[in-house]
Amino acid sequence: MACIGSGRLCARVEKLYQLGQVAQIRRKTSNYARIKEIGIQPLTRTLVQSCQDGSMRTHQPGPLPERQVDPYHLLEDDLKDIYKDIRQELRKNTNIPELRTIATYYFDGQGKALRPMVAILMARAINCHMYKEKSGLLTSQRQVAMISEMIHSASLIHDDVIDQSDIRRGKPSVNVLWNHKKVAMAGDFILAVASMMIARLRNDDVTMTLSQVVTDLVQGEFMQLGSKETENERFAHYLTKTYRKTASLIANSVKATAMLAGADDALTEVAFQYGRNVGLAFQLVDDLLDFVSSSAAMGKPTAADLKLGLATAPVLFACERFPELNPMIMRRFQEPNDVERAFELVHKSRGLEQTQFLARKHCLEAVRLASSLAESPYQKGLQVVSDLVINRMK
Ligand code: FPP
Ligand code: MG
Repeated sequence: MACIGSGRLCARVEKLYQLGQVAQIRRKTSNYARIKEIGIQPLTRTLVQSCQDGSMRTHQPGPLPERQVDPYHLLEDDLKDIYKDIRQELRKNTNIPELRTIATYYFDGQGKALRPMVAILMARAINCHMYKEKSGLLTSQRQVAMISEMIHSASLIHDDVIDQSDIRRGKPSVNVLWNHKKVAMAGDFILAVASMMIARLRNDDVTMTLSQVVTDLVQGEFMQLGSKETENERFAHYLTKTYRKTASLIANSVKATAMLAGADDALTEVAFQYGRNVGLAFQLVDDLLDFVSSSAAMGKPTAADLKLGLATAPVLFACERFPELNPMIMRRFQEPNDVERAFELVHKSRGLEQTQFLARKHCLEAVRLASSLAESPYQKGLQVVSDLVINRMK
């Protein structure tokens, strides 16, 4: 069993979790206590255990077993028209041809549809948990799945303008094909149509939950423009940013589907925490793939984060072994050769393994949360999603 680094940063990450700085979860204490009651081990405890001897280890924090369910196959009927329905919703709200074209550009069915898939899986798993054989997917829950993909795509459109991206999902990104003013407005338009769909659900708690996502996305993206002086602050900043930018959408979408099923606070919290853990793991793996995957596999440029001046988990972990990364982080890798040198140091360090280890922890926590739901193919599907997230190559 090889050690990953000295474990100092691991201890700090653990401390951040204990202080609750990760993801400003804003959970109600009573809900959290009930989650513990039903036997869900918080991530913090497993991290404490791995860090107790002052080191994290390369052995996996537990096996992710082979499971028998393919969630995309399971939800084939629910998902097959999801992009078509989104395009229709967008088209019916404008008669401006160019706005229609830009707004529907990313809904071509080539995306992973991860967010709708997870939202519907959770909806169906919760429905089975609560209503057993009488359960079916509610129209409102499917709407949440669509809304979550629309908020996601609206944010990607804005992100592509900000990042001056060239390529997404293997095709030219929106900002390459149309001018930035039109692209930004098309993103706003998608968001506006999504807001109308939220309003139509006529559920104040769901409206609050899904509106929180947009506030988080904007704050997450804003936080990414700044960095912090000390290593401690930097990791806290990174984790909160990661929650807001990525995990909040998944967490709050699955939470909304649980609310629409009439779930009580404890069950809603299980759904939320499942989404939060999957979301954090997804972004950690994304940050890892940026260092190891090829552009062809990803359908977007790699090593992009360093070029954008961003220090993600692999760099933050690598910093512990190579403190010369600190000044590079502070100047956002702007000096000649910074990007190349940082890339090399990350590969020489254990930063990639440590990032994967953290992602795996979150996946295991998600599996544990899903296992507290009644057994059903959808409950198993939620566990498979966690396996897919940790094993994904693009
Ligand atoms: C992708 O990041 C970007 C996001 C997940 C969120 C972006 C959020 C905003 C631009 C705020 C505005 C939000 C709305 C809803 C209008 P990335 O650059 O790390 O990923 P990439 O490599 O896929 O581009
Ligand atoms: Mg981007």
